[in-house]
Amino acid sequence: MNNYVVKKICCIGAGYVGGPTMAVFANHCPNIKITVVDINQERIDAWNSDDISQFPIFEPQLDKLVLNCRNKNLFFTTNLEQSISEADMVFISVNTPTKTKGVGAGKASDLKWVEASARQIAKFSNSHTIVVEKSTLPVKTAETIKKILLSSQENNLEKTEKSFSVLSNPEFLSEGNAIKDLENPDRVLIGGDDEKAIDALSEIYSNWVPKNKILKTNIWSSELSKLTANAFLAQRISSINSISALCESTGADINQVKKAIGMDTRIGEKFLSPGPGFGGSCFQKDILNLVYLSSFYKLEEVANYWQGVIDINNWQKSRISRLIVNYLFGNVSEKKIAILGFAFKANTNDTRQSPSIDVCKDLLEEGAHLSIYDPKVENSKIIDDLQNDLNKLKVNQGYGYWEIASSVLDAANGSDAIILLTEWDEFLNIEWEKLIKLMRKPAWVFDTRSCIDYKKARKAGLNVWKIGNSLI
Ligand code: UDX
Ligand code: UDX
Repeated sequence: MNNYVVKKICCIGAGYVGGPTMAVFANHCPNIKITVVDINQERIDAWNSDDISQFPIFEPQLDKLVLNCRNKNLFFTTNLEQSISEADMVFISVNTPTKTKGVGAGKASDLKWVEASARQIAKFSNSHTIVVEKSTLPVKTAETIKKILLSSQENNLEKTEKSFSVLSNPEFLSEGNAIKDLENPDRVLIGGDDEKAIDALSEIYSNWVPKNKILKTNIWSSELSKLTANAFLAQRISSINSISALCESTGADINQVKKAIGMDTRIGEKFLSPGPGFGGSCFQKDILNLVYLSSFYKLEEVANYWQGVIDINNWQKSRISRLIVNYLFGNVSEKKIAILGFAFKANTNDTRQSPSIDVCKDLLEEGAHLSIYDPKVENSKIIDDLQNDLNKLKVNQGYGYWEIASSVLDAANGSDAIILLTEWDEFLNIEWEKLIKLMRKPAWVFDTRSCIDYKKARKAGLNVWKIGNSLI
């Protein structure tokens, strides 16, 4: 049998995953026409903008890659029908948030966008199409996709030559590092049962990924591996964060503990930085998915084990808010507090599940006046995340208020405390001598990322709280 030849790719979803992934594909595969489609016209216009600062995603090196290929072999459009109908391979890269209502609310992923994508592929494709799950999906989602695609084959009134192969090809990129991760992945995972389709996708990756890094599995292993990888990573963070609290109580220093355990090659040094809790669109959602899946199969102990990782994460966020209030004499009402960093980590403008949101909400609840500065997050996102209207309504009932600051100095001006929540480079070398002059005394800095030069801050006269360290 002949191999499948892929000349045209369609990617549904021009978000944090679809955009960078397809930019890297396009740069390495000049002979493949790649079209990224999205229902959101504004997002597509932003990708097509001449002004790179208007791109919908901030990701180091991404602009160069897009400019190199855009309108040559990389296109951004809302024309789903045309893009699917001409594609040999379609990636599904739409969002899969945790369900907020109905069966599985708070745990299961909402698959309505994935299902809609499968129906669109079923409708508009007109030859053999390889459908690739790129979104992180609950195990067995491929089954649903297959059923939808199959029904279109059965009801094919136009009698076109439709047929499909479904693959799982989860994305392991981490935001802020997306291009590096895509260019030089630890592994590429392709799950499926159609060997020709697996080979076709593998062939594309082998343009830049060594063949020994391309791992082929059955489809369920592939789906479960993605959830498991994220759960393991998140578990490391909850583990180190739980120990950070113990360090604060015992006089141990989390950075010394981190170094000591990280030198054990079985543990390894990566992903052991204490912080205000993990954020991002994946970790919580994927663990909730594992919890849901485990409960579904009546594995309650497994479900409870993974739920513990989320519980510690939530606890870490709220314990940080509580201790800030305690250090500020148990009262932050009307006090100005500078919030440095709103993104869920450095080098991204993404705020999904950012711990900053929870810490800010807790402090607003206590009546604080927050001045928020982030070098990359758009004001509109902060407004959405903190629910502006609710904020205004509550202002007369002891609820705090917040504003967006234009710089570190602006945020710090007149404040009692600075809370560092995202480890942006810009915050690593703050001139504390200059800053403290603008602050009300006693002035505090709470470093939830353990990244400032605390000696300099103390020398300048600030009280310093640093995560996982009670002795400074
Ligand atoms: C991805 C994954 O796909 C998700 O499973 C993973 O867990 C997180 O990362 P991401 O790219 O980060 O999602 O999401 P987002 O930036 O929200 O992009 C998704 C895009 O799909 C949006 O631009 C949205 O408009 C688009 N979309 C959604 C469609 O084009 N069609 C739809 O039917 C639904
Ligand atoms: C994650 C996975 O790393 C990636 O493989 C997957 O495809 C998507 O989910 P992402 O959410 O973009 O990527 O960022 P990541 O770097 O994993 O950080 C997630 C959260 O954990 C951030 O809030 C980060 O600040 C936090 N974190 C990370 C820590 O608190 N400590 C660490 O040591 C590492």
